[in-house]
Amino acid sequence: MTVLKVKDIIKVPLKELLAKLTTAYVDELGATYQYWVGAKIIQGSGRTTVASELNTHAQEELSHAESIATRIIQLGGQINIYPQDWHKKAGCHYKAISSTKIITVLKENLKGEQCAIEFYNGLLNFTQGKDHVTYSIIEKILEDELEHEQDIITLLEEI
Ligand SMILES: [Fe+2]
Ligand SMILES: [Fe+2]
Repeated sequence: MTVLKVKDIIKVPLKELLAKLTTAYVDELGATYQYWVGAKIIQGSGRTTVASELNTHAQEELSHAESIATRIIQLGGQINIYPQDWHKKAGCHYKAISSTKIITVLKENLKGEQCAIEFYNGLLNFTQGKDHVTYSIIEKILEDELEHEQDIITLLEEI
């Protein structure tokens, strides 16, 4: 009996796939941090409601990082990247929050979500019909990112 290994059943170049997943992984860590810090520092009216939403997003971004890390390990890749190298591997390059104003924080978060949506859409095109497992992981993540985008747009309309 032939034993099929994880690398044998994917039809995309492994190195390229791992590079894209690594970018997604560090971006998710960046997004987690951005939301988490945002929830801690925002000021002004509506702070409690917005902070609670940002904390929920932070947890979800961390769970995305976890799913992606698991897939990277399955594919034989590395997740032990030095934090000082995260920025080099990043795609969306989450920046330090520039203000404690709710509106500024939300606008910066929105930018991050839009970048993630574009990136994951590309990753779905890359893996479609060629790597079913990665495709299904990323499809679920993209659904969450679209929901996050909508949550932020709604908050921006309400404040
Ligand atoms: Fe995410
Ligand atoms: Fe998100």
